[in-house]
Amino acid sequence: MQTNFRGRDFIGDLDFSKEEVETVLDVAWDLKRKRALGQPHALLDNKTLAMLFFFTSTRTRGSFESGMAQLGGHAAFIDSETTQISHGDTAKEIGEIFGRYFDGIAIRQCDWQFGNGYINDVAKASRVPILNMQCDVYHPFQCLADLMTIQEKKGRDLKRKKVVVSWAYAASYSKPISVPQSLILQMTRFGCDVVLAHPPEFKLMPEIVQQAKDNAKKYGTGFDITDNMDEAFKDADVVYPKSWGPMLTTTGKEEGKALIEKYKSWITDERRMDLTKDDSIYMHCLPADRGLEVTDGVIDGPHSVVYDEAENRLHAQKAVMALTMS
Ligand code: CP
Repeated sequence: MQTNFRGRDFIGDLDFSKEEVETVLDVAWDLKRKRALGQPHALLDNKTLAMLFFFTSTRTRGSFESGMAQLGGHAAFIDSETTQISHGDTAKEIGEIFGRYFDGIAIRQCDWQFGNGYINDVAKASRVPILNMQCDVYHPFQCLADLMTIQEKKGRDLKRKKVVVSWAYAASYSKPISVPQSLILQMTRFGCDVVLAHPPEFKLMPEIVQQAKDNAKKYGTGFDITDNMDEAFKDADVVYPKSWGPMLTTTGKEEGKALIEKYKSWITDERRMDLTKDDSIYMHCLPADRGLEVTDGVIDGPHSVVYDEAENRLHAQKAVMALTMS
C-alpha cells in the first residue's frame, strides 16, 4: 500500500501508480462502509475546496460538494461565468489566489485543446492540490468510480474480464473524449481485456491509445480496437457504450454533426445486450441520451449498474480528497 498522497494533484489517470489507485480504492471502500454505518469521518475538518466549473454538472458537483461536507469541510461552488475569469483573471492568478484561500482546487474545463492545459497552468501556480473534475483529455474521478464499481460487481481480480468501451450515437452535442480515454488508460492496468469500439471517424488521441497499449503490454492485459459494435459486445463482461465527438477528425460543428448522424445504429439495445455474457453489466457515466445511445429497457434493466456507479463517485472522490488534502 502506498501512502504518499498529501499535497499532490490528480489531473491525469496515470498521475497515481497502480498501487496508489489500489490505496485510493481501499480508502473509498472504508469511507463507503462508514457512511453506510452512519459513522462520522471528519477527516477534513475546517478544510475548504474550491469547485471551479466552466461547464454544467449534476453528479460531479453534487458528489464533491456533499463529499466535502461529509468529511467535515466545505466546498464552494464557483461558476466561471460569474467570476472575473470572464473579465481576464488568468490561470496563474486563480492558482495563486485560490491556493491561498482554499485547501484544494477542483476544476472542470472541457474545452477541446484547452482544458487540460488550463488545469495544469493553475496547478503550476497553486500551493494546494488540483483535482481534475473533467477536462478535454481525462475524467479521472469518473474512472476511479467506474473501476470501483466493476470490482464490486465482478470481484477485485479482474484478470481476463472483457471490458468494452464503445462509442454510441447521441444527438444532443459533441461530448468530450475524456471518459473513454480515462477508461482505456486505467482498465488496462487492472487485469481487464479492454476492447475499444468506434466508427473510423471517432478515434481517440493517438498518444492516449499508445499509453493504453503500453499498459496492456506491461500488465499482461488485452487491448484491441474495432469498428464493429456487435463484434465488441460478444461475450463481454462489462459494456460501457457512450457518445463522444469526432474531435480528432473535425472540430467543425456541422461536419461533426453530419458524422454523428451516419451512425444512428450504434445504440445499446436488448439485442446487443444479448450478445454479452448473461451476467454482464451495463455502465454509463451519465447523462445518457435515452432512446438514442441506449434503450430505456437496457438502462433501467437488470444489467444496468448506473446508479451504483454514480454513487461511487462520492466515495472515490472523498478518498482522494482525504488523502491529498489532509
Ligand atoms: N458523469 C459526470 O461527470 O456527470 P456530470 O456531468 O453530471 O457531472
